[in-house]
Amino acid sequence: MNDNFGYTGASIRPGTMRDTNSADTSHSDFMRDLQHGLALQRKSISPKYFYDEAGSQLFDQICELPEYYPTRTEVSILHKHADEIALKMGAHAEILEFGAGSMQKVRVLLDAMDKPARYIPIDISAEHLLGAAKQMAKDYPNLEVEPLEADYTQDLVLPPDMPPDGQRIGFFPGSTLGNFEPSDALHFMRMCAKTLQGGALILGADLVKNPEVLHAAYSDKQGITAQFNLNLMVRANRELGANFQIDQFAHSAFYNAPYQRIEMHLMSTCQQTVRIGDASFAFVQGETLHTENSDKCTIDGLSQLALRAGFTPGKAWTDPENKFCLLWLDAPKTRNPT
Ligand code: AVI
Repeated sequence: MNDNFGYTGASIRPGTMRDTNSADTSHSDFMRDLQHGLALQRKSISPKYFYDEAGSQLFDQICELPEYYPTRTEVSILHKHADEIALKMGAHAEILEFGAGSMQKVRVLLDAMDKPARYIPIDISAEHLLGAAKQMAKDYPNLEVEPLEADYTQDLVLPPDMPPDGQRIGFFPGSTLGNFEPSDALHFMRMCAKTLQGGALILGADLVKNPEVLHAAYSDKQGITAQFNLNLMVRANRELGANFQIDQFAHSAFYNAPYQRIEMHLMSTCQQTVRIGDASFAFVQGETLHTENSDKCTIDGLSQLALRAGFTPGKAWTDPENKFCLLWLDAPKTRNPT
C-alpha cells in the first residue's frame, strides 16, 4: 500500500473532453443518436446508451450469472497472474481504468502492486462512478482515487501530472473493446497508445469459441440480459419522453459466425409506431433495433490491431480452456509527443 500519496477524496472530476459529458449534453446526444439510428434502414443505436444507473446495475447482475463466463474467467486469470503483472507494472505505477464500472477487477491488481500511486477510474455513469470510487477510497486509504466522469471513447484529456517515478498503466478489462465498431476500436486504441506513452495497456478480450457457450451467455435463463437490453427503451421513455411499448419488443441475441460476434437486438413483436420528440418511427413485425455487437477475437487478430494502433504486443495470459485472454501491450514513447 502507498504511504507517500495521501488520499485526496473521491469527488467526481468532470470529463475534460472535446465534448463535455454533462447530463444535458448526454441527454441531447441520446435524443440525436436514437432519432438518427431509428431512421436508418437497419435500425441501430450505440450500446453505450445501455449504461444509465439501472443499466449499470443490470450489467453487474449479468457478471454474476452462471452462463456469463467472461467476468469470472477474466478474474481467475487476473488472480493467477497478478504477481507477474504487478512486477511488469513496477513500483509507484498509476492505473487508469476505462469504463471502471464497479471497480472489482482492479482490486486484484492493486492488491499485488508495489505502492500504487494513483487510481483514475473513468466511467460515463456518474452515480455509479462516485459510489464505487468512494468505496475504493475507503478500502484503499493510502491510494489517491481520482474518478473521472467521461465518455472514454472520445479524446480524453487526463490529469497532466504523471506519477513521478512510476508508469502510467491503462486497464481495459471485460472485453468492452468488442462492443466498439472496428473503426472506433482502432481510434480508441490509437488514443490509448498516445495517452499511455512510456507505459502500457492491460487489455481483456473474449476469445472465439463454441457458439452454444456464447448463446447461453447472452440469453440467460433468468432473463437478466433481456432486461438489460430492454432497459434502453425504458431509459428512452423516461429521459426522452419516448413511447416505446416495452412489452411489444423482445430480446434477441445470436452468434453471427462470419463476423465472429454476438449481436443483440430488440425485436418488434407487432407492427407499431414509436414517437420520440417530434419524430415517429414505424416498425414492421419482426423488425429489430440493433443494440450491440460483442466481437469475439483471437490473440493474433488483437495483436494486429494493437500494432496498427502503435502498441508493441507483449505477453498474453489465458485460462485453461482458452475462453478469455489478458494482453499486455507496451506503449512506446513517440518522438514528438503532442
Ligand atoms: C460490456 N460488454 C463487454 C458486455 C459483452 O459481453 O459484450 C456487454 C453485455 N452485453 C450482454 N451481456 C453483456
